[in-house]
Amino acid sequence: MAIEKTLLLIKPDAAKRKLTGLIIDRLENSGFELVGAKLVRVTEELAREHYSALKDQPFFENLIKYIRGEFHGIKNNKILALVYKGENVISEMRKIVGKTNPEEADPDTIRGSFGRITTKGQFENVIHASGNKEDAEKEVKLWFKEEEIIE
Ligand code: PPS
Repeated sequence: MAIEKTLLLIKPDAAKRKLTGLIIDRLENSGFELVGAKLVRVTEELAREHYSALKDQPFFENLIKYIRGEFHGIKNNKILALVYKGENVISEMRKIVGKTNPEEADPDTIRGSFGRITTKGQFENVIHASGNKEDAEKEVKLWFKEEEIIE
């Protein structure tokens, strides 16, 4: 079994609604090891690189505004980024996080508990979790310097 690392981003809607502690509680209950944590100023460039695979999607521009906190009045575009490590951590964290669409997410997952779709159709799903090994490796490198991961 592979030891992996995965990136979690506590999104601006969660920060605004003071859900950060509750979400971290769920993540910690997984038993996986936290190896990275920091507040990041999400620049336009970082946001666009993070979601680069989705650049042709109709919701892309809103995704960039959302992750930069523009829909929630987050000063300095800051977001809490976390890295967890362990056996199959990528898929196990995705189970805890729940389906991307908060209306389809199981109620005992993070997105099922706290996510919503706005009346304008924007997903506000409170957390990002890397989808697979390739994305996780790319995302951890994009958001964290090597020396910021403590294992
Ligand atoms: S997945 O499961 O991560 O592969 O999800 P995917 O469906 O590929 O979506 C990737 C990100 O796009 C966001 N997304 C949307 N935002 C707004 N409106 C719609 N319709 C929509 N569909 C997908 C989704 O939240 C994913 O971002 P993260 O940050 O992972 O949640």
